[in-house]
Amino acid sequence: MIIFNLSNSIMPQIRFPQTKSQIPILSCVVISFWLFSCTPNSPKSLPLAELKRSKESIVVSAHPLASEAGKLMLEKGGNAVDAAVAMAFGISVVEPFSAGIGGGGFLLLGTPPENSETQQYKIRALDFRERAPKAATRNMYLNEKGEVEKKASLDGHLAVGVPGTVAGLYNIHKSLGKLPWKELLKPAIRYARDGFELSDNFVSKLERRLEVINKNPAARDIFTKNGQAYQPGDLLIQTDKAQTLETIAENPQSFYTGKIAQAIATDMAKAGGLITLEDLRNYTPIWREPICGKFRQAKVCAMSPPSSGGVHLLQILNIVGETNLQEWGRENPDTIHLLTEAMRVAYADRSLHLGDPDFVEVPVKELTSLSYAQRRRQEINLTKVRRSTEVQPVSPEVLRSNILESPDTTHLTVVDKERNVISMTYTVNGSFGAGVVVAGTGILLNNEMDDFAAAPEAQNLYGLVGDEANAIAPRKTPLSSMTPTIVTENGRLIMATGSPGGSTIITTVVQVILNVLEYKMNAAEAVSAPRFHHQWLPDKLMLETGGFGEATVNELKQRGHNVVMRRGWGNANVVVLHDSGMLEAAADPRGEGEAMGNGQ
Ligand code: DON
Repeated sequence: MIIFNLSNSIMPQIRFPQTKSQIPILSCVVISFWLFSCTPNSPKSLPLAELKRSKESIVVSAHPLASEAGKLMLEKGGNAVDAAVAMAFGISVVEPFSAGIGGGGFLLLGTPPENSETQQYKIRALDFRERAPKAATRNMYLNEKGEVEKKASLDGHLAVGVPGTVAGLYNIHKSLGKLPWKELLKPAIRYARDGFELSDNFVSKLERRLEVINKNPAARDIFTKNGQAYQPGDLLIQTDKAQTLETIAENPQSFYTGKIAQAIATDMAKAGGLITLEDLRNYTPIWREPICGKFRQAKVCAMSPPSSGGVHLLQILNIVGETNLQEWGRENPDTIHLLTEAMRVAYADRSLHLGDPDFVEVPVKELTSLSYAQRRRQEINLTKVRRSTEVQPVSPEVLRSNILESPDTTHLTVVDKERNVISMTYTVNGSFGAGVVVAGTGILLNNEMDDFAAAPEAQNLYGLVGDEANAIAPRKTPLSSMTPTIVTENGRLIMATGSPGGSTIITTVVQVILNVLEYKMNAAEAVSAPRFHHQWLPDKLMLETGGFGEATVNELKQRGHNVVMRRGWGNANVVVLHDSGMLEAAADPRGEGEAMGNGQ
């Protein structure tokens, strides 16, 4: 586990000018902690999440039926693992467009120490991400002219990575689950067999992927009425998926070596996909060390490579350092500017250095070191934007010479009464994944292969670019941005969070963490607060429409930011644990999720 400190002494160089908008913000600090709402130029048009509280245990996910499945497991005497597994299978049925058994992901598991005065939370990370099939090749998405065939990594069988969800969920259950495995699948089987009502959200996502879905007969059968999208309020019944889940309930290994594996391999062979029985048989989830660092008094742990989430979450927090953002104010252009510049640096480094650590050496310690953050921070000018072309990834040589200190996706979070915690993000990548359902099984397959860099400079679905480190290779894992996170302090749990949103995941998680730790927001405020995002390339500062006042937006433009207003993104959720022992949770108001507490 890599731990480093944010020390005051390393961040002294920058002068922070007082802008006009800062003055009213500072006076506001005295009156209220809820800075962005009291900032005079700040609009209040964004909805606020519903706050749920419980002393006992709490669940939160992107869909009420998935949350209900988790709550039920806790009521039956299950723990956080049981609840998370039931919720994940639930999501697979009620939100198949975002994540499911045809995809993969990452989770962090936190277990409390016997003595929180003297010991730390134990935090482990499970990588159950999709892997490239053995027959994958570096240039598999290039045409004869050497150009990237964009659709090939997004739509259809060739876009699919070997799914890891079932193996991951079974693995975590074996390590800590209390209830019988079969019990955990019951709610999902019920939702698939009896059906559930489709929401506006589901249908609008379906309509956007209809053309691709209609090309695959098995997907067309499930998600359309003779090629027409189902409508909000319609009941979606998934009989094949119910049967598949029954099979998994009896024997999870059937997905990798049994009749489900056979169905997947047959479907692949017929349609020009690469996944074989051997690929499925060889799939194994991997326990990894999470990446942990200190921010203020808190210890922030998040997912390590092959996700870039943890590295860049900590890199951005390191660049913030001891800056008193609370005093500056959340909507102060200085705050947004500093964080934007930190994001720009992090995503530049991501493009060169991040990839599957089993294939390339990822300089995790260096990128998350304080001395490197100091160096990067000194380059930031608070009065003037740098264009992304002026900000390059650090070269491996410079990084090595750096002196080190000692050393469409879904997220769900559960904390049980023993204070075990699961923070899990998993996905089929783009909405409805590859748009392919394995005939006869109801399994919607991912298009995770698009997260590889198909060629240097080629953008993926989220506009991210990569290089050698994230080039395609047989059995390699594509680089992710998923950032399931757990924050503790002196052996006590403080919060757990995560979000979908492709490239925006990391910056969403940064902001939710700052909202709780720095701005002292409650769980509902923290997931509701307006967001901004920068990812180096394209060189754009995305601001959430309706979230920032005119004065702030104008000031940022004045400094040279290429401001783009965007409708809200991400679908975060968070659980916060207070000193009083009270748990509180909230689901992002931008989505349709729900938090549910047990007991009082
Ligand atoms: O692993 C990643 O970073 C992406 N495949 C996540 C995709 C995602 O968040 C889609 N959600 N909106």
